[in-house]
Amino acid sequence: MDSFVFKILTTAVVLRAASGGGIPTFAGPWNVWIERFTTCSEDDKRISLKISHFNPSKKFENQVWNGFINFTEEMDDTWWSKGVLDVRSNNQWKENAFVFFFPKNGCSSAREILTEMFSKYFGKKGTPCRLVKRCIYFENTTVAHEYPRFPIMPYGYYRFKITAGVTGAKEPEYCFRMLCHIIPKIGS
Ligand SMILES: *[C@@H]1O[C@H](CO)[C@@H](O)[C@H](O)[C@H]1NC(C)=O
Ligand SMILES: *[C@@H]1O[C@H](CO)[C@@H](O)[C@H](O)[C@H]1NC(C)=O
Repeated sequence: MDSFVFKILTTAVVLRAASGGGIPTFAGPWNVWIERFTTCSEDDKRISLKISHFNPSKKFENQVWNGFINFTEEMDDTWWSKGVLDVRSNNQWKENAFVFFFPKNGCSSAREILTEMFSKYFGKKGTPCRLVKRCIYFENTTVAHEYPRFPIMPYGYYRFKITAGVTGAKEPEYCFRMLCHIIPKIGS
């Protein structure tokens, strides 16, 4: 078994499906399109992004990003990171449909999962993980989503909360929110 998957199944991550049904029953190879990507609070100005609308008649086109994400704190493997996916079902959010929690090595774990566009800012794989302070600008940047660690996902409308913080600190340094749609993989 792939060592990362093994880690998921043992110590690093809790990945669970919410109980009580309502989880989409159709899952498979997927693509994602993003409706909104913001910080968790209006007072936090570290994300300002305009993401092009998904065009159902041009499904093969990746979305185009304009704006910035401002990383104001250096992140390394002394951090934790967490991702929580809520899924839309019967007109309400089913919370914690999927939870990824990396109590340790939050930086490497994020680098391992993220699409190339973002993982490159965490340093080369195999070297100590470090996200340096910097403001990343997007100017008509085409963002491709490749998540080989997650070949299969249930299709649906998701609310994704990403947090990361220093070990021992309960309050995250970063808190981002994304609304996105996971759809059957285009061309498959
Ligand atoms: C990014 O954050 C730094 C540090 O807080 C700040 O000086 C800079 O103005 C910010 N950049 C933008 C585009 O908001
Ligand atoms: C981005 O694309 C828009 C629309 O195609 C164009 O008007 C604008 O000049 C482009 N900006 C940059 C920085 O390439």
